[in-house]
This record gives sequence, C-alpha cells and structure tokens, in this order.
Amino acid sequence: MYTRQNQKNLTAAQRKRFVAAVLELKRDGTYDRFVRTHDRYFVPDDDDGLRVGHMSPSFFPWHRRYLLDFEEALRAVDPTVSVPYWDWTTDRSPADPLWGEDFMGGTGQGPERKVATGPFAHASGNWPITVGITEAPFLTRNLGRPHNPITLPTAAELQTALDDPVYDMSPWDSTASAGGFRNKLEGWAAPRSERWRNHNKVHQWIGGHMTGGTAPNDPVFWLHHAFVDLIWDRWQARHPGSGYLPDAPLDRWDRQRGRVLTREDPMPPWGIPPSSQLGHAGVYRYEV
Ligand code: CU
Ligand code: CU
Repeated sequence: MYTRQNQKNLTAAQRKRFVAAVLELKRDGTYDRFVRTHDRYFVPDDDDGLRVGHMSPSFFPWHRRYLLDFEEALRAVDPTVSVPYWDWTTDRSPADPLWGEDFMGGTGQGPERKVATGPFAHASGNWPITVGITEAPFLTRNLGRPHNPITLPTAAELQTALDDPVYDMSPWDSTASAGGFRNKLEGWAAPRSERWRNHNKVHQWIGGHMTGGTAPNDPVFWLHHAFVDLIWDRWQARHPGSGYLPDAPLDRWDRQRGRVLTREDPMPPWGIPPSSQLGHAGVYRYEV
C-alpha cells in the first residue's frame, strides 16, 4: 500500500522524481498511449456509442482504473513515486507553486497559449505533443482564462455535489439537471448562467489541451483526477447507504440501454465491472 500525497506537501526532491518519471514515460512512448486511450473514450451524449469515461455513471470507476494503470507505469520507472492530488478548492492561483518551474510549469504565452516554462515547455525538447486536437507540437494552457475570467470551483460548490445522496440518475448522461452526485461532480449539472461546474470547470480554468479529449497531454490532468478520485471516497464515506447506479440492467425501452454501464457490466478497455473499482483499500491511500 502506498500513499497519494497532496501536491502542496511534496518536497522539492519528490517533485523532481515525479517529473522525471513522467518524462521517462513520455520518452519511451508509454505516455502518448495513455493520451490516445483517453481520447478514444471521450464519447459525448449525442453519440450512439457506449459512453464509459465521461457523461455517464462509470466516470469515477473508469478514471480510477485509468489512473491506476498510469501510476503503475510511473512506479515501474521509480517505485517511490505516486500520483499527487491537487485540491483546487484551496490552491487556487496561477501563482501557486503547483505551476512552478520545477513542477507543472506556468500558463500558456502569446496568441497560441504555448506553455513556455517548466519541464513540459516545448523548448525543453522533452514534451512534444503527438496526439493533439491540432497540429501544434507544443502544450497549451490559459490559466484562469484572463480574457473571459473563470474561477476554480469553491469548497461550497464541491459540497453541493457531496451532499447529494444519489450516485447518479436517469438519463445517466450530462443532462440530468435534477442532480445525482456523478453529474454534479463531473460538472454538467450546472445552472445555465455558469455552464461548467466542479470537475469540468477545472478543465476549463486550465484551458488549452485540458479542454478536450487529449487532456492528459497536460500532466496536471493526473493531479486533478487524483483529487476527483479522492472526492469519490469522501462521498462514499458521507453516504454509506448509497452505491453505484444503475445497479440492474436498464429496461428494454430505455434509450440509455447499452450506452451506459450498470454495476456489473464489463468496462472497456479492461473488461472489469464498475463494481470492481468501488474501493482501493490495500492498494493506495490518500494523505489527508
Ligand atoms: Cu477523462
Ligand atoms: Cu477530467
């Protein structure tokens, strides 16, 4: 069992080892395979296909398993490394050490929003983008979206998701404005005035690659999703009588039948059911 630390508590030496392991996976081609996998499972509501990673109940178990695979690859490079988490309700500024030269690097610069500082700057030579939404070979960001400002989700906004005792609800997509923890935390169930909430709002606040299917091109993706994973733990602790839904096959006439995963359906690409990912005891723990 290993620990996932809050990123703000990493020592300079730990930051360095994390970055070095990430760069090694990039160098040997492993990293870009992860980016491609995420992009493949970025299927929106209006598509007829199976939605496993996003806009669906398996958002949490899919990303838990995906992070575990990535972390396993990191730990094969350096067994002292794990994925840190970023609590965006407390570390909210582009000036935060998270975005420092020795860690994630800073915001994008110029009209192209090119990340130009830190280990993932294009000029470092170590971070060519090969699986992008555009041809641009460099990582892009636009922290806080200065021309049309957006703020990171607040603790109160996160709490509205945590307070919902129902895991998810029909139609199991991005449109259930009535709620459900999954949709409120993934961040589609937003008031019209805001559009984005919680998890989605963080992707938008970072901008650039983080707003699309190839979001894991930005290494901060892993730190964001480790916190999302921790939030799922918090929700389970707060609502011990609630569990993953749907927990039975959908009715024949249900338009979502075959498009979302019930508790025991095999989850691609692993073929394991959501029920296998409901906890992580014995594998890792979160530093609180
Ligand atoms: Cu994702
Ligand atoms: Cu995400």
